[in-house]
Amino acid sequence: MPHLPLQPLTPAPSAALADAWLGRLTERLADPATDRALLCRDTLLELAYPTYVGRWDEAVADPQTPLGTRLALAALDPRNVTLEPEYYGDCDQARFQRVKPLLWLWYSFDRLPIGGQAVDLGVRLRRLLAGHVFARVGRNFKCFQHVEFSFGYQMEVGDDVVVHRHVLLDDRGGITLGDRVSISDYANIYSHTHSIVEQVDVTNARTVLANDVRVTYHATVLAGVHVGENGMVGAVAVATKDVRPYHVNVGIPAKSVRVKPNAPRDGEDRLGTARARGD
Ligand SMILES: CC(C)(COP(=O)(O)OP(=O)(O)OC[C@H]1O[C@@H](n2cnc3c(N)ncnc32)[C@H](O)[C@@H]1OP(=O)(O)O)[C@@H](O)C(=O)NCCC(=O)NCCS
Repeated sequence: MPHLPLQPLTPAPSAALADAWLGRLTERLADPATDRALLCRDTLLELAYPTYVGRWDEAVADPQTPLGTRLALAALDPRNVTLEPEYYGDCDQARFQRVKPLLWLWYSFDRLPIGGQAVDLGVRLRRLLAGHVFARVGRNFKCFQHVEFSFGYQMEVGDDVVVHRHVLLDDRGGITLGDRVSISDYANIYSHTHSIVEQVDVTNARTVLANDVRVTYHATVLAGVHVGENGMVGAVAVATKDVRPYHVNVGIPAKSVRVKPNAPRDGEDRLGTARARGD
């Protein structure tokens, strides 16, 4: 296969504006006194409804403002919307309400003309927000558009992790992503499951993708699965059980079809040892 590293691009003419905008957000988020709901509201107001900047309260209350516009303006404030995880019985409301404004900003940005496909700004914004939403995030987190979380606060992420577009990271029971993990487009990583008899009987289990794991396009990893170091889940596979280090598992249910040629010679044996240690 040809070696095709990413191309460096010259900065956009508006790079200084982007730097200033992100710098202001960085400062506001670093200040513990910042009201995150207002920060989210005012940030979205500037981007989406600039004519109402400085007069949000007045416009929402004004019967002369079209009814739908009043509603749309109101919805910029995360206190006026509900997100699905808030309804979950195991939602820690104190923790979730702290991160909810940032999740709402993240999801809403992705649906604006300025967001979505715009890689540089989007990646930098999401990296900033992840630092205030996740339990832990390492260096160079790179996340593309339309990624969704359950709680967000149950995410533990290592260095140089890449999450591509339209990925679902259901961190209800917790998700751990090791260093250099890559999750491809439209993949789903779950950490909760339901009893087949009682829908409200929910089991949470932390799902772990160890260092250098790749979960490829449209694949699904079920709750509690541990994908070992350098393991790979093939396109459209459903990983229902653990994936051994350096193994490539494909299909439904995903089964090993090969061991990567870069596996250490004792790769098979290391699995048992690593699992026994709880790695
Ligand atoms: C998992 C994958 C990498 C395997 O590639 P590979 O090591 O070259 O393996 P092969 O193509 O030789 O396939 C081995 C066997 O598994 C089957 N197979 C491969 N991928 C499969 C998949 N996603 N689902 C079901 N079966 C699959 C092949 O048909 C082959 O079966 P056979 O031995 O009966 O002919 C690849 O098929 C895949 O799913 N790629 C996704 C895209 C990708 O590369 N993403 C990386 C970026 S993160």
